[in-house]
Amino acid sequence: MSGSIAQLSREGSSDAGKIVDDETPVSGQNRVKSQAYGLMPSLDFDGDYGRTYKSNIRDSVPGYDTLHEIGLAAVRMTSSQSLKALVVGPGPGENMPSLLEACPKARFTLLEPSEQMLAFCKESIDGVDGMHRCHLQQNGLMEACKTSLKEAIFDLVICHNVLHLFNGDQQTKMLHQLAGLTGIGGTLLLSAFSEPEKVSVTESFLALGGQRLKDRGLTEEQVSTLLASRNQVVFSVDEARVRTALGAADMAPPLQLYQALFAKLWLIQRPN
Ligand SMILES: C[S@@+](CC[C@H](N)C(=O)[O-])C[C@H]1O[C@@H](n2cnc3c(N)ncnc32)[C@H](O)[C@@H]1O
Repeated sequence: MSGSIAQLSREGSSDAGKIVDDETPVSGQNRVKSQAYGLMPSLDFDGDYGRTYKSNIRDSVPGYDTLHEIGLAAVRMTSSQSLKALVVGPGPGENMPSLLEACPKARFTLLEPSEQMLAFCKESIDGVDGMHRCHLQQNGLMEACKTSLKEAIFDLVICHNVLHLFNGDQQTKMLHQLAGLTGIGGTLLLSAFSEPEKVSVTESFLALGGQRLKDRGLTEEQVSTLLASRNQVVFSVDEARVRTALGAADMAPPLQLYQALFAKLWLIQRPN
């Protein structure tokens, strides 16, 4: 990997040493721990969970690859001429090469607090056309908004599968921050775990989701662990919250592009 080419910045790296919640202190250095959804009661992006992320995320998020495929098509449709793009929580950055290709003029800022995920992300873009256009920051959204991105505006903001790592109040704050970073005429792409309004539908989805995991070869115990993590370690990002928070920030109503059980993808634009 040629570190000299893709920039890796530890600017504002204070939240490299924090739990996934930017505002919560943590013990170990560079630990990004989340009590989020997955096959473990607690997720550690700098530990085993992060190491096996690429395979386990496809269990946790039904239609994970399709979600990213549709997200990429939306980027091509709305933002191919983008000059400044922000990816919040790129994780291992598997879709970064396609995004770089889809937005050939854009300079990308990648905000990722986990050291391990950031290293994977760097590997994903290493040697790829456009890697020089990436600026990697080891930082979380809330912290970056107070420091390195204080005055920043982007014409494309992407935040896939991050918001549900946070509780409802924090989600609202982060939605405001994402909106604040999206410039006039800009696009925000958002995906997250999101439960339906009706409890009966949620129950059906849970039963179906459990069956799907068994079909994928998970043990009963793994399935129960995953289901038990709901609203304990992963928090639903309600569509109403997204609509209200972004509406208050003058963004257009969210357009739902995709849903697979609890996984949803929205396109939100800031009108000209
Ligand atoms: C579930 S992964 C999603 C990765 C990728 N976007 C995807 O769709 O596969 C969540 C990522 O968000 C990162 N993350 C956690 N807290 C964050 C924060 N405050 N700001 C930005 N990213 C954060 C985690 O380190 C992790 O890499």
